[in-house]
Amino acid sequence: MSISDKVQKSMAQGSWIRRMFEEGASLKRQYGEENVFDLSLGNPEMEPPAEFREELKRLVEKPLPGMHRYMANAGYPETRAAVAEQLSLETGIKFTMNDVVMTCGAAGAMNVVLKTVLNKGDEVIIFAPFFPEYINYVDNHGGVTRIMPTDEQFMPKLDILETNIGAKTRAVLINSPNNPTGVVYSEGLLRQLGQLLREKEVQYGTQLFLISDEPYRRIIYDGLKYPFPLLHHPQSIIATSHSKDLALPGERIGYIAVNPECSQREELVNGLIYCNRTLGYVNASALMQRIVSRLQAVTVSVAEYQRKRDFLYGHLSEMGYSMVKPQGAFYLFPKTPLEDDVAFVRELQQWQVLAVPGSGFGSPGHMRISYCVNDRTLGGSLEGFRKAAEKVKGG
Ligand SMILES: Cc1ncc(COP(=O)(O)O)c(C=O)c1O
Repeated sequence: MSISDKVQKSMAQGSWIRRMFEEGASLKRQYGEENVFDLSLGNPEMEPPAEFREELKRLVEKPLPGMHRYMANAGYPETRAAVAEQLSLETGIKFTMNDVVMTCGAAGAMNVVLKTVLNKGDEVIIFAPFFPEYINYVDNHGGVTRIMPTDEQFMPKLDILETNIGAKTRAVLINSPNNPTGVVYSEGLLRQLGQLLREKEVQYGTQLFLISDEPYRRIIYDGLKYPFPLLHHPQSIIATSHSKDLALPGERIGYIAVNPECSQREELVNGLIYCNRTLGYVNASALMQRIVSRLQAVTVSVAEYQRKRDFLYGHLSEMGYSMVKPQGAFYLFPKTPLEDDVAFVRELQQWQVLAVPGSGFGSPGHMRISYCVNDRTLGGSLEGFRKAAEKVKGG
């Protein structure tokens, strides 16, 4: 065999998102692209804001000397400083460029953080439903994933978390706004979570990291102000990107920001920079760093996403689907009218509608619907949602 046993096993298990992508491609060949309503991917159809193109044009027309060379592994000082300035403004905590490492997306950021902090066998706690790649990322660096439940509103159950943090727990990894549910963690919940982590640090004499994966931070609705997890635990790290807020997922640009109040911060940041290099990323894209350093205050049209959320949430509720109304990201996570979420997603496929079974996110009985698509696709999917629900209810 040309590949390792471990990789072979992981690939055979596959990911539901990937599987739906492949099945969608086959449906598109069969029925024609325009007749398939693909709501399975978190790949925004929205174009990046106009300011992105202006910056790109400026760099093409007036190139800087040496702009395509290697740089310090943490990234350009100018970019790190711009990120630090914006974060300071938004959080009220004073960040400097020394707290920031530029990375290849949020995925790169998380892999760098996990490699830096995990010893073999250390446990990382996540909450179901979760972004499925977390399991791979933790495994990449010798960690063990522990999955904890959430309540009906998809908020972590802190009483259960409390009894599951032990001497081997190294980090709690959270994601707000959340993929796949779209929920945003409240200030109150984060405060309680921070308190719990500090109590456990004292109980076990450990350092417990709160890792906040927040690529959807700026895509929040209803006038909500983002509750920063970082404000509630000093031993905390942001892993994020501009994949969603500037609609640049293919450009692989993100960053890590370490809470300036983190103990042994300098050692930690040096570790992160070392891991960014040795994981083979070396540094985040030079061109993208130049661009995003001038776009820290720019975001895609959140009003547009809110309009799409309202449209889909409204129609699906009226059809009888039951779901938590999300306050961020661009996903809905309704209960499936059949308990067997895979069977229901297959039923939707009969109507050329693609969603992802909740089982792929550790929460069977649900499905993830991604609404970062154009209005024609969203509108076109409604008939399938209606017909599939009627059929399984015997209507
Ligand atoms: C919750 C979450 N974290 C991380 C990522 C990865 O982001 P990036 O493309 O910036 O690596 C995604 C991508 O969809 C995501 O949904």
